[in-house]
Amino acid sequence: MPQPDDNADLGARVDAAVTAALAAIEAATTTAELQAAKAAHNGQGSALAALNGSLRDIAPEDRKAAGQVIGAGRGRVAEAIAARQGELAAAEEAAQLEAERVDVTALPRLRTAGGRHPLTMLVDEMSDVFVGMGWEVAEGPELEHEWYNFDALNVDPDHPARGESDTFYVAPMDRHMVLRTQTSPVQARSMLSRELPLYIVSPGRVYRTDDIDATHLPVFTQIEGLAVDKGITMAHLRGTLEHLARTMFGEEAKIRLRPNYFPFTEPSAEMDVWHPGARGGARWIEWGGCGMVNPNVLRAAGIDPDVYTGFAFGMGIERTLQFRYQLDDMRDMIEGDVRFTEQFGMVI
Ligand code: FA5
Ligand code: MG
Repeated sequence: MPQPDDNADLGARVDAAVTAALAAIEAATTTAELQAAKAAHNGQGSALAALNGSLRDIAPEDRKAAGQVIGAGRGRVAEAIAARQGELAAAEEAAQLEAERVDVTALPRLRTAGGRHPLTMLVDEMSDVFVGMGWEVAEGPELEHEWYNFDALNVDPDHPARGESDTFYVAPMDRHMVLRTQTSPVQARSMLSRELPLYIVSPGRVYRTDDIDATHLPVFTQIEGLAVDKGITMAHLRGTLEHLARTMFGEEAKIRLRPNYFPFTEPSAEMDVWHPGARGGARWIEWGGCGMVNPNVLRAAGIDPDVYTGFAFGMGIERTLQFRYQLDDMRDMIEGDVRFTEQFGMVI
């Protein structure tokens, strides 16, 4: 049991406890370490708390003085904790701000967002030329009945294009389904399902057993156009194609129609476009086919060819992209390399 003359000794013990506490507080380099030092040196179970607890064993007349000695010690420790707390909090905040610093002059990290394929963008752009003139966009299936792909288009059963050498027939053969070889079956579908007069464009994918090379793909894209109205003439066809060519290739663009044969148009023409920027100099390039809708096709759709006439055309989208940007090889369009796609801008 402590004796009254232990008071001198008490002062030394408080000093020792305070010195140890101050050293621990000073040594703390984080607020977490400071909390640990505070618990060890000023909390329950600390030397100072034990000394405080021993007050009750001190003679009542000495208790007040002893209490003041201990209280002063605890006060110094509490003050030191508060001061260190302030320093550490300021340092930690500064470090955090440093870590979160944003360099507003830094170049943004390039993140490729992905984008639409140039063929898709071109399909939309070409369709828009027609939508702008009041035409409608029509769709048809890629897996098509032979009747729409050939018969309704006046293609004779013996026509070479019907042969398995050009057309992908889909088993079982007795269902007469083909992967459409052209967008022209949408002509027949539109004439059968829509009201007259008819002004439609129909972009989409087509399939042929063509060998792949710089200007041919076995799966490619066409855009079909069809106008059926009273009094439609070849001059309307020409004017429409010229307008499209200028929109696609610039004001100097010209078109040329060369007599040709398609079973579904009469007369028929191969349509060339004058390409001023072509590699190796300005020249004519085959763009598509066109003509006046064959009366047999109108009749097959229940339209009286003595009252209505029409024109139709169909051109390749890959070819259009190829002329427009002077691309050497069409195969680049389907290889899925974003370095190709990015050159056209990544319009989302
Ligand atoms: C046709 O496909 C006719 N349906 C076009 C037509 C429509 C004529 C309406 C009259 C009335 P052709 O087979 O020539 O025609 O193909 C048209 C265009 O498709 C070609 O000029 C070319 O631009 C593109 N094309 C044809 N074959 C390929 C291929 N393998 N790869 C990429 N483009 C092709
Ligand atoms: Mg052709």
